[in-house]
Amino acid sequence: MASPSVHDVDAMVDLQAGTISRDIFVDATIFAAEQEKIFARAWLFIGHESLIPNPDDFFVSRMGTESVILTRDREGRVHVLLNSCTHRGMKVCRYDRGNNRVFTCPYHGWSFATDGKLASTPGALVGVPHFDKAYHAELDKEKWGLVRAPRVALYKGTVWASWDPDAVDLLDYLGDMKLYLDFALDRRDGSPGGSRVVAGVQRWKVNCNWKFAPENFIGDMYHDISHRSVDLVGIGPSGGRGRRDNLRPRTTIGFPGLGHGVIGEPPHTSEPNYVPAWTLYPEVEAWYREVHDRRVAQLGDTPRVTMSVGTIFPNMSFHGRQPRTIAVFHPISPTEMEMWRFCLEDADAPDAVNDTARHYFLRYSGPAGMTESDDMENWTYATDASRGPIARRMPYNYQMGMGHARPVPGLAGAVENGEITEENARIFYGRWASFMKDDPWTLPVSERVPMPGETADAG
Ligand code: FES
Ligand code: FE
Repeated sequence: MASPSVHDVDAMVDLQAGTISRDIFVDATIFAAEQEKIFARAWLFIGHESLIPNPDDFFVSRMGTESVILTRDREGRVHVLLNSCTHRGMKVCRYDRGNNRVFTCPYHGWSFATDGKLASTPGALVGVPHFDKAYHAELDKEKWGLVRAPRVALYKGTVWASWDPDAVDLLDYLGDMKLYLDFALDRRDGSPGGSRVVAGVQRWKVNCNWKFAPENFIGDMYHDISHRSVDLVGIGPSGGRGRRDNLRPRTTIGFPGLGHGVIGEPPHTSEPNYVPAWTLYPEVEAWYREVHDRRVAQLGDTPRVTMSVGTIFPNMSFHGRQPRTIAVFHPISPTEMEMWRFCLEDADAPDAVNDTARHYFLRYSGPAGMTESDDMENWTYATDASRGPIARRMPYNYQMGMGHARPVPGLAGAVENGEITEENARIFYGRWASFMKDDPWTLPVSERVPMPGETADAG
């Protein structure tokens, strides 16, 4: 079968017709172009500062198909280095996480300092075996340091990086989607930031195209039927309540031009009533109730949002309520991805709260999580059944709710399209198309629609 041209983006992603070619989910040429055009340019989630709290701590992450090392230097600054020796490409670090100032390549022994104090720049080449005898002291070490991401940004503990020096700032990239990210990253009492990763990171392989996952989490409320069995079993925080606590937003909000979206509520000025969710664990229940009361007092009538799950283009999703997590979808090939999940809790949460959150997370998400297993089965079989020459003649259908989006009061550039819609999926693939057409940094100029009772120029 002839490979599709990467230049036929409008034909592959036809948002006027509401159709998307299966080629973008299975084809090797498109996959290779995605690595160059999306993953070598977009802001990507790298990790969380709580994984590298001390100087010289490191955490090995990924940007697209490539391994990177997230490190913290002696001044507390955070760097992202390509995990590939500049001599013959060997991985200089094969651990997941640790503390180290110098990475010595296991192949021939070149060593690289991650700390700017030991070298002119983080990642600099500081040691070369037989430098005098074999290289005659002529090798220019300054030129052969590890490749460093030129753009790194921190946001409320999360670390992001881009390989594109011309990328817009992270906050412009996020737009008002930032408010929904805040919901996951802020403390439960409404104080800004202050969340941390509980325990380790779950990593596992799924035999599907990487886009199935962020598309699912950006606002697919249509697939509830997939989770019928887990709803019947009841794996919620206290058991016997479906699969979640029951404060469940019932609309989808997306950001055209930015490619992000969420299942959430538009901004509102009061807090929903507390819903007991941890009744089997009195200590945990008391803590959640107490932070809820603090949240009500602290936020007063300031606008706030709530959400359950959302996606930040291209490959990061997050759950803001229990199980409160960050997920990342690292591409491996057109039909394989590695999925990572980080469990988040308030940094000052008691051990009992962390333990119950972690247990709930494990039975909900991850390779053995009952809800996530349903999703992975869908993505895997859909990928497999889309590969064949006959299947590839037929595009996927994304026509649900076309033409019914409306602006969201209180948010710049956002649209809402009801509970069950493919609006957010179309927004995601619209952004995919802008990257693939080499126009990633022309962002929409968006007016913020006032909330009810606000004057037009407020806020
Ligand atoms: Fe690293 Fe040769 S590959 S020193
Ligand atoms: Fe699901």
